[in-house]
Amino acid sequence: MTEKDFIPSNYLKDIVSKRFSWSSPSNIALIKYWGKKKNQIPANPSISFTLDVCKTTTELEVCNKTTDEDFSFEIFLDNKIQNDFRSKIETFFYRVETFLPFLRHYHFVIRTENTFPHSSGIASSASGMSALALCLMGIEKELNPNMSNILFKQKASFLSRLGSGSACRSIEGDLVVWGKHEDYPESSNLFGVKYPFEVHDNFKNYHDTILLVDKGEKQVSSSVGHELMHDHPFAETRFQQANTNLSKLIIILKQGLLDDFITLVESEALTLHAMMMTSTPYFILMKSNTLKIINKIWDFRKATGLHVCFTLDAGANVHVLFPDHEAPQIYDFIRNELVVYCQNGHYICDRVGFGAKANQV
Ligand code: DP6
Repeated sequence: MTEKDFIPSNYLKDIVSKRFSWSSPSNIALIKYWGKKKNQIPANPSISFTLDVCKTTTELEVCNKTTDEDFSFEIFLDNKIQNDFRSKIETFFYRVETFLPFLRHYHFVIRTENTFPHSSGIASSASGMSALALCLMGIEKELNPNMSNILFKQKASFLSRLGSGSACRSIEGDLVVWGKHEDYPESSNLFGVKYPFEVHDNFKNYHDTILLVDKGEKQVSSSVGHELMHDHPFAETRFQQANTNLSKLIIILKQGLLDDFITLVESEALTLHAMMMTSTPYFILMKSNTLKIINKIWDFRKATGLHVCFTLDAGANVHVLFPDHEAPQIYDFIRNELVVYCQNGHYICDRVGFGAKANQV
């Protein structure tokens, strides 16, 4: 597939249904996307677990357009007008208009809500952008009913990527690869694909408990962080490492190698933050409680032999990952020893999920 394959030919009909609604989950990267080229092309391939509980539900209403603005829309978060999102959505519309020529012809009312608090420090861009892209694909499908399901999902992921890179990994589950890699035959820089190989039962129904260490606004956004990889002294080595890790993961997932999984995933998380600490300018997104939690996890793992590990996204919150068959003991550990480090004791028990779902409207 090339970008051109996502430009629609003439539409066959007009819009009949006027409202579209999708719920789309967040995802947590095991091998991280950090660094990108022009047009949201990743500097290295990445892979993530799709989540289940943390998600965004978006309803898109298509109305007649009455202004000459390029793009005419209103956006509501939890039923309140949310003008902070306007510029991000406008940028998104400019990026995708070639692929969705109807965008300039209508006025859109976007109503969105998250299952997690907006101020939780959990990035809503993956779930939010993918939910919006899917609603737009609802319109596209209405205009072009012959579109196959495969193309629908690929294009939804392609559009999501243009909103926020990691969002392209939220359309499907339970594991999604994004970025060209020679060991993954169908992989693409343009959209996410379902993990194509065998996965051992150890990795089915994996848990991710998100410890909300710091709910404040990040000092440095992901966009700035990606940008800083351009002149980064370790960039090439890092991109190579991500490629190598994707090759290693195939055997780990197939054979159920939990110890190797832990080593790879924790190394990825710390490398991501090491890239931040060695950028020019440098920055640190971890907080002291992030480090306390990491050390507690290491102590507990050593003492019990249980397969709990952590990963981090671009923030201070800690994702605690563990297999289903060890969940009861690990939940006890989280409640008894880790929740104390969370802001206001807040945490979210999530697990691996299977992608976005359309809602009845
Ligand atoms: C650290 O997808 O938020 O979570 O493409 O600029 O929107 P943009 O960046 P974004 O970056 C996510 C980075 C990460 C790692 C990952 O999810 O792979």
